[in-house]
Amino acid sequence: MSKKLVVGNWKMHGSRAANAELLKGLLEADLSASAPRSNVAVCVPFPYLGEVVATLQGSAITVGSQDVSAQAQGAYTGEVSGAMVREFGARYAIVGHSERRSYHSESDQLVADKAKAALAQGLVPIVCVGETLAEREADQTEAVVGRQLKAVADTLGADLSKVVVAYEPVWAIGTGKTASPAQAQAVHAFLRAQLKAAQAQAVNVPLLYGGSVKPDNAAELFSQTDIDGGLIGGASLKASDFAAIARAA
Ligand code: 13P
Repeated sequence: MSKKLVVGNWKMHGSRAANAELLKGLLEADLSASAPRSNVAVCVPFPYLGEVVATLQGSAITVGSQDVSAQAQGAYTGEVSGAMVREFGARYAIVGHSERRSYHSESDQLVADKAKAALAQGLVPIVCVGETLAEREADQTEAVVGRQLKAVADTLGADLSKVVVAYEPVWAIGTGKTASPAQAQAVHAFLRAQLKAAQAQAVNVPLLYGGSVKPDNAAELFSQTDIDGGLIGGASLKASDFAAIARAA
């Protein structure tokens, strides 16, 4: 069995004091015991990267950003490059989260370009895909996630095998409505087949599920054949919940 990957996405939450408290709880939970079975990371707001990396030094938990620029450097006011994120010790960068696709009008191609920029700077992009409720009800789930993934596959070519993909149905994010393990597994199996068709080695890309993952539903989700871990929002802000989810992996 390959190792699971459990990633916390803090979104725009935190303060230096709250982060210290949360990280203290995570360090006390000593996730190193589950390290042979799972890798754990937290994706934090840009300003906290350096401090969080320093606090987690020597622990089993790695760090990532929640976005990254598609550009390497230059006159792009407000953007943060992959090199900057990497310099602060991050290993991952989430790209194409549905909140960025919807609130910042990020296109499939921009997301793919961000994934490419992240890889070029030594970061592992966690590429998010997912359908809205209207799209699911219109039976468009595979068409939507297939289209989102194809942009990344076409842009990365052979490097497709180096990414992580997270399936996050938009209707399950922050709503308390989780995709059932069977619903999630069905989409993951579809994504696995698409990855394999695009590039043979990409069949091994870790596929995370995200959307209202909690301690009481994590184990069943993670036991599905094509679910290799989770991307955790709300529950990653509470040390005991996040630790319980990491242990379920
Ligand atoms: P919730 O776990 O709060 O539903 O958020 C999921 C998510 O968007 C993680 O990126």
